[in-house]
Amino acid sequence: MQPLRQYLATNNIEPSLITLIDVLAIACKDIAFRLQQGAMSGILGSAGEENVQGETQKKLDVISNDLLKNYLLASGVVKALASEEEETIVSGNEAGSYLVCFDPLDGSSNIDINSMVGTIFSIFSAAEGSAVNEKSFLQPGRQQLAAGYVLYGPSVMLVLTTGDGVQMYTLDQRIGEFVLTNDHVVIPEETKEFAVNMSNQRFWAEPKQRYVEDLLAGSEGPRAKNFNMRWMAAMVADVHRILCRGGIFTYPWDSRDPDKAGKLRLMYEANPMGFLVEQAGGKAYTDKMPILDIEPEHIHQRVPVFLGAANEVTTCVEYHQSS
Ligand code: AHG
Ligand code: MN
Ligand code: MN
Repeated sequence: MQPLRQYLATNNIEPSLITLIDVLAIACKDIAFRLQQGAMSGILGSAGEENVQGETQKKLDVISNDLLKNYLLASGVVKALASEEEETIVSGNEAGSYLVCFDPLDGSSNIDINSMVGTIFSIFSAAEGSAVNEKSFLQPGRQQLAAGYVLYGPSVMLVLTTGDGVQMYTLDQRIGEFVLTNDHVVIPEETKEFAVNMSNQRFWAEPKQRYVEDLLAGSEGPRAKNFNMRWMAAMVADVHRILCRGGIFTYPWDSRDPDKAGKLRLMYEANPMGFLVEQAGGKAYTDKMPILDIEPEHIHQRVPVFLGAANEVTTCVEYHQSS
């Protein structure tokens, strides 16, 4: 059971990237500690402010964002960062080699019910010499150097890809280190489990309606098998289940807010999760194309998301393309 830094070093990861991943891990250990203290650490409830997405921020959204920002800016290796909770990018060290996008606290509605939440991050390289601005971040997800998440659950887990498969680490509380517990994560191609917020059903487009109707029809329907359903209300927790035992996760466009392409954000939700899923042998699509091939237009851009078991994602996308 190798500690995180040791595993990365033995796999020839650039020392400055190891520093960056280690700093992210430290910030997340700090968040995990506060979560474990719960009401005693003053993290519960609303912060009373709205973020750039127009969502009410929870105290822990703000605390996690500040922790990550402070650790990352102090690391010296970060040229700039973009966060769900920051309207614009935040500049760091001009000589830094990396751009970091993150969702400091994913699954905010789970904070106050002591349920699973996480932190998601995505790392790009920063162009040398040139000044950094929002455009510097608008690279397709395919160019990510590394991506991952920390899941704050019964165990605290770090799940990471540096473009060579997916590894899972578990926080060993006795020594305060993430240690490698699965060095080869694979998503089976087929599945009998789907994740979607069914309460939005009446707002979905017709192809999505048909797809889910056929899943629900089970062994008597066109899919000729029974499907189970799960919805954790935290993308981190749903994607973690898929990396552990397979499945498909979907957050489609819906007509509640028709001008938005979806609910989830490309740069710090869909891209990092898409990179992990592809590296584990799965697929990550919008209703039209691989998420990682999208040319981003702005840092808070939203996209429809269909990811997980390769064959199931293909089937789901075919429903959308045939209509
Ligand atoms: P965040 O807490 O960072 O805003 O993200 C929440 C996202 C995602 O984690 C989850 O899958 C989805 O919102 C849940 O949405 P519903 O509340 O619509 O089910
Ligand atoms: Mn989120
Ligand atoms: Mn969030």
